[in-house]
Amino acid sequence: MTWRAWAEDEACAIRRAGRWRTVRDLDGRGPRGTLADGRPVVSFASNDYLGLTSHPAVIAAAQDAAGRWGAGAGSARLITGSRPIHSRLESALAEWKGVEQALLFSSGFAANLGVLTALGDPDVLVCSDERNHASIIDGCRLARARVAVYRHVDLDHLDSLLTAAERAIVVSETVFSMDGDTAPMAELADVCRRRGALLVLDEAHGVLGPYVDPSGDVLLVGTLSKALGSVGGFVAGPAPFVELLRNRARSFIFTTAMPPADCAAALAALCVVRSAEGEALRGRLRRHLELVAPGRRAPIVPVVLGEEERTLEASEWLLARGLLVPGIRPPTVPPGSCRLRVTLSAAHTDEEVSRLLAALDALWTSQPNARPA
Ligand SMILES: Cc1ncc(COP(=O)(O)O)c(C=O)c1O
Repeated sequence: MTWRAWAEDEACAIRRAGRWRTVRDLDGRGPRGTLADGRPVVSFASNDYLGLTSHPAVIAAAQDAAGRWGAGAGSARLITGSRPIHSRLESALAEWKGVEQALLFSSGFAANLGVLTALGDPDVLVCSDERNHASIIDGCRLARARVAVYRHVDLDHLDSLLTAAERAIVVSETVFSMDGDTAPMAELADVCRRRGALLVLDEAHGVLGPYVDPSGDVLLVGTLSKALGSVGGFVAGPAPFVELLRNRARSFIFTTAMPPADCAAALAALCVVRSAEGEALRGRLRRHLELVAPGRRAPIVPVVLGEEERTLEASEWLLARGLLVPGIRPPTVPPGSCRLRVTLSAAHTDEEVSRLLAALDALWTSQPNARPA
């Protein structure tokens, strides 16, 4: 069989399973834009939780930095690609998280790969929550460590896996990206302390918490691409760990440094996040969330519809009402749990949220099981 025929066969199998994906351009800024056919839509599926991708101070900082340092860094950080803005951003991130040091990566994905591969080896047991993100799963695979997957937020299961381990890492998201539920932070930290395990927490979606106590052997993985409105990732924690990552994490060492403009954007966004304006934006986001899904703690509202076809139909139905929420299908979520992953942003207007709510109410009336608990 030729490679071309093989690729066509593989693509056919994905199509037959109802899992074919295409890129859809949204021409706009923030949640509003037009599709290629000219239809105006409001997106309810982005991770720009605070609307900082379009904040004037964030855009201005990126423009200034591009003017001063150019469009790209030109090389890896450890060669000649490090600019003062990289170090400034790392210091600001460490201070924000209340830890000694932070290290930038070109994405949150690269940060998870970096931390797990730098710390894992065949003598290490990595325990990973079964709903962790693909970047954590791939980090575990690449780490050459033994890997044990524990049932979702099941601390008894985790504890039992740790009994026989001498050196262990426990890795979890703080807010799970596809379900919007949260990990029990204090209890996780407690299990790790008792068992002497290192805790790695991915806070990618933790815009509204939960709070992570940074004391002890905890490494925080973060992204600049969601609430901080830019692109890039970081690992933050005690100096010995971060210094080791700087010398060992291959996804940090062997790649070009983040563009200075993206660092400057993230730094300006961080200033907003830590200001009274940031508090007001989070308040607005919480109010939107309380309207759409009262009692939930993260601005991710899963509408689980089961099979691919039903999910795509629901997505098209929303699109006909000007609401863009693409269907999420395997391998992003387990088979049979296809969903609309509705996300909210402080950038949404009250009217847009009311429109979403009316549409979701109609969906939930026809499919009551899809209403999140
Ligand atoms: C939990 C989690 N970790 C890491 C990432 C990767 O972050 P980035 O988009 O910065 O690569 C994502 C992205 O969706 C995520 O949901």
